[in-house]
Amino acid sequence: MVDKSVNSGRVATDPWDEVARRLGTDLYLDLQPDPTASPRGRGARRRHSLAEALRAAIDDGRLPAGTRLPPYRSLAADVGLARGTVASVYQELIAEGWLVARQGSGTHVADTVGRARTDAEPTRARAELPPPRHNFALGQPNSSLFPRADWIASTRRAITEAPDDAFAPGHPQGTARLRRSLASYLARARGVRAEPEQIVLTTSVMSALELLSRSIFGDILAVESHGLPFHRQVIERGGTSTVPVAIDTDGAVVDDLPDAVAGVLLTPSHQFPTGVSLSPPRRTAVIEWARSGGRLIVEDDYDGELRYDREPVGALQALGPDVVIYAGSVSKSLSPAVRVGWLVLPPQLVDTMVWAKGIREPDASIVDQLVLADLIDSGAYDRHIRRSRQYYRRRRDRITGRLARSGVRVPGIAAGLHAVIPLPADSESRVVADASRRGFALAPLSFFRHPACDVTDGGSADGRGLGGGVVVGFGTPAASAFAADVEALADLVGDYLPNRRLRAE
Ligand SMILES: Cc1ncc(COP(=O)(O)O)c(C=O)c1O
Repeated sequence: MVDKSVNSGRVATDPWDEVARRLGTDLYLDLQPDPTASPRGRGARRRHSLAEALRAAIDDGRLPAGTRLPPYRSLAADVGLARGTVASVYQELIAEGWLVARQGSGTHVADTVGRARTDAEPTRARAELPPPRHNFALGQPNSSLFPRADWIASTRRAITEAPDDAFAPGHPQGTARLRRSLASYLARARGVRAEPEQIVLTTSVMSALELLSRSIFGDILAVESHGLPFHRQVIERGGTSTVPVAIDTDGAVVDDLPDAVAGVLLTPSHQFPTGVSLSPPRRTAVIEWARSGGRLIVEDDYDGELRYDREPVGALQALGPDVVIYAGSVSKSLSPAVRVGWLVLPPQLVDTMVWAKGIREPDASIVDQLVLADLIDSGAYDRHIRRSRQYYRRRRDRITGRLARSGVRVPGIAAGLHAVIPLPADSESRVVADASRRGFALAPLSFFRHPACDVTDGGSADGRGLGGGVVVGFGTPAASAFAADVEALADLVGDYLPNRRLRAE
């Protein structure tokens, strides 16, 4: 039940609120007595320890300038000293300049302390890692697009309307509220066939893979020859080895899938990172391969909503909800800072996944799950996606257009937040080293290659003609820098083309 007194704005008169305000800052101070010391003089030693602990907390920044200290009374009760002793310690620290007493508002950490130290250290740390001049860091959404006002409005509504038990420990499957919203959203936007009971909420695709490898994958899983290295690592840490399957212009070469695997992890809508999509005949073939051998397909639909050229390719899951585990998250659509992801499972696997999460492990914050549910149900999520599509479509067009004028064709479908710029395989490492000198953040295509891939053809990957290249995330650059960043990118790439056509522009 909703507690109306909370929602009607009477929270400020809550007596506990008043008590908490009087008690002030909660302060942890370690005043453990020395067990070897004699009991004589114990009181004086504890007084000395309190003064030392306060000086140390102020000096190392745990108590920053301006922090209000607890009143004598409450600190005295916390640390087991007389009120007068605590008062005399405060006086001593005021005299030394650590603290100041403000008429009517208690004792505070002085404004002048700790500054030199706390300012100097981050400055030094930042100096060691200058931000990239041309930030094509991998496939992240542009942070300026985060729908702040909608998120705030959804937070207000979701928290106001949530029943009290929403704030109790959650179920490992995640809140039913978001599972209902997602089931209808994924059916509408991606063609996924899902009942809320088949959905298990996670923090991310990465955490979903970790859970799956601990519980469902078995000994060996096939993965695309190119993919996120940390996805492979997390699967292998969970006890499943991975074997690569080649990729060509129709996506993963599913005819080459070995028999002796528990299943395959695919990015069928937009292969990561090459950008191709799995062709319709291969979709049918891979579902048949899974069904005929009792295997599973994990569909990582990480950027399925971000398609720019034609009707979105629906999820593979719709063709085989009995054999496909569908995984997604808001890391591309909203922000990787939100940490909400989902799995849509064949019904017979739900209990195993819930067990793998553990009884008291709701995983993603229930509060954020409620907010996301409201964002979806209010239509704000769809609006954000439509706006994002326009924004990223323009960016992708600008890059592909600029490179095309100079004879470089960006492969793959018009989708997502990243693109591959093909390069002669033997120049890839030189381009990347040069890019780093020129202040670029970008990644070589070989970074994504499975270590067991054949490197043949003078450095091109796996003999299937992927060759070399760099992967650029075009979501990240700031709007004010984007045009110049694209020019700098074209210059960089142009310097390594066999005929230097870009340079001649
Ligand atoms: C291939 C791929 N899968 C999934 C994701 C989603 O990541 P997360 O683990 O944060 O959900 C990403 C995002 O970078 C990605 O590139």
